[in-house]
Amino acid sequence: MTAFGPPFDPAGLPTPDGLPAEVPDLVIAHLSDTHLTTTGVLYNAVIDPAAALDRVAAAVVRAAGDGRRPDVVVVSGDLTDSGDPDAYRRLRATVEPLAPVVVYATGNHDVRAVFHTELLGRTDHPGPILQVHSLPQVRVVVLDSTVVLAGHGVLEPGHLEELATELRTPHPGGTVLVLHHAPLPPPSPLLTYFALDRPSRAALAAVVRGSDVRIILAGHHHLAGSGLLGGIPVAVAASTAIRTDPLAPPGHERTYGSSGFNLVRLYPDGELSVSVIPVDDAPEIFHLDPADCAAVVGAHPITST
Ligand SMILES: [Fe+2]
Ligand SMILES: [Fe+2]
Repeated sequence: MTAFGPPFDPAGLPTPDGLPAEVPDLVIAHLSDTHLTTTGVLYNAVIDPAAALDRVAAAVVRAAGDGRRPDVVVVSGDLTDSGDPDAYRRLRATVEPLAPVVVYATGNHDVRAVFHTELLGRTDHPGPILQVHSLPQVRVVVLDSTVVLAGHGVLEPGHLEELATELRTPHPGGTVLVLHHAPLPPPSPLLTYFALDRPSRAALAAVVRGSDVRIILAGHHHLAGSGLLGGIPVAVAASTAIRTDPLAPPGHERTYGSSGFNLVRLYPDGELSVSVIPVDDAPEIFHLDPADCAAVVGAHPITST
C-alpha cells in the first residue's frame, strides 16, 4: 500500500478456461502534450489546458480508487506551451500524486533549460539529457528529440550513441523508450513539416532493432495512434487538450478540442497491450456489476470440442 493506493487489482477478471487472469507486471498511464500555459492564457486562444489535464487526472484518480492505479505515469513532452517555470510546477502538482513513478520528456514547446531545472533538477548540462529510470519491472529511457527554438525534431548523433551504449546492457524486464516527436510518418501537413527528421528516424530504428526495447512511447501528433519502427511497436498518446484531424482536406490542418491518454500494460514473457482512453464525457451505455458479469458468463458456457 502506498500513498497512491494499491497496485493493479486482478480480482474480478473471470477467464473462460478457468485459468488465472493475466496480470500485467507494470501499468503505465501515458499522457502527452499537456501544453500548460501561463496562468490566465488560453491554449490556442480557446482552451484551458490546465482544466483539460485536470479531467484526465481525475480519470486516473477514479481508476486508482477502483483498483486500477497505474504504476508509472509518462508525460511525453510539450508539457508546457511556452516554458513558463510555474507551469512546470503546476504540472508536477497535478501528475505526481497519480503514481509512484512519474517520467517526463521534453517537447518542442518546452524550454530545455527550464525543463532541466524544474523537472530533472539539473542545471549542469545544456544539451539533451538521456534519462534512465531503472525500475524492478522495466527500464524506462527518455530521449530528448527537441531542437532549441525549432518545432521539428532531431536526434543528435551523440545522444543516440548514449542510447546505444545504455541498451548494450539489457534490463531483465526490457526497456520502454520515450521521446516527444513520434518516430512515425506524420498525419497532417504541419506535423509533416515539424516531424522528427527522417535521418533521425532511420538512425533510431537502427539502434532499437534487436535491442531489448519493447515499445516506444511518444506524442507530438496530438492524435492517438500506433506504428512500427525498426520492428518495435510505437504508441502515440493523444494530447490532453486537442486532437489533430488526419482526415482534414489535403493541405489543411484541423484540430478539435479533445482529451485522452493511453494505458500501456506490460505482461510477463514480453507481451504488452495499449488501450486508448478518451476523456470526453461520453454517455455511459451500461455498467455491469460482478453479479451481472457472472450471469453473463453463466449464460455463455464454453464447451470444448
Ligand atoms: Fe504538442
Ligand atoms: Fe510537439
